[in-house]
Amino acid sequence: MIIIYNSLTGFTEKYAKLLAKNLGFEAKSLNDYKQIPKNSEVIFLGWVYAGFIQGLKKAERKFKVKAIIAVGVSDETETTILNLAKQNKISERELFFLRGGVAIDKLKGFKKFLLSMVLKSQYNHEQQVENLSGKKMEINWLDVLQNGIDFVDEKKLKPIIQWYSDFLKNNGTNN
Ligand SMILES: Cc1cc2nc3c(=O)[nH]c(=O)nc-3n(C[C@H](O)[C@H](O)[C@H](O)COP(=O)(O)O)c2cc1C
Repeated sequence: MIIIYNSLTGFTEKYAKLLAKNLGFEAKSLNDYKQIPKNSEVIFLGWVYAGFIQGLKKAERKFKVKAIIAVGVSDETETTILNLAKQNKISERELFFLRGGVAIDKLKGFKKFLLSMVLKSQYNHEQQVENLSGKKMEINWLDVLQNGIDFVDEKKLKPIIQWYSDFLKNNGTNN
């Protein structure tokens, strides 16, 4: 198994490297796909842009994608996962969502504008939201818009590590 990531501002890359450390695999950027044998079994991590998991289609063309980890800034809820599964036409069973972060200083132009729209859409409902681990979130999105934020947390990889352990049980130990 190889961990392949596609990251714009670095949060997805951070998660990929943490996951690689936990599972004992290599993490490689999708940009380096030529160095990776075609049809390798991979865990793919991609950042979310307007609901689309970036690089997923390309990864699926080149590799056998066994699990998909979307990294975005939405609430860590079932609804987010269901919406991502629907929009990206994937099964929700193999899909995980992790909240990455906002690096406002690394963005410019249209992408910066669009992200500010995404963040503004969070303002109204975030306070009532519980994330997947049952923790209530209180985030000042106005502050995030100005200063950015990093939500990357190694503990959030637990369900993915569990998924991999179940995957091994069901598929033997080669790979
Ligand atoms: C233009 C743009 C659009 C985005 N759209 C979404 C979105 O639809 N849903 C979401 O959860 N996050 C969205 N995000 C947030 C990013 O997915 C988030 O910042 C992520 O951590 C970026 O990962 P990266 O640092 O690996 O590039 C968007 C960010 C940008 C810049």
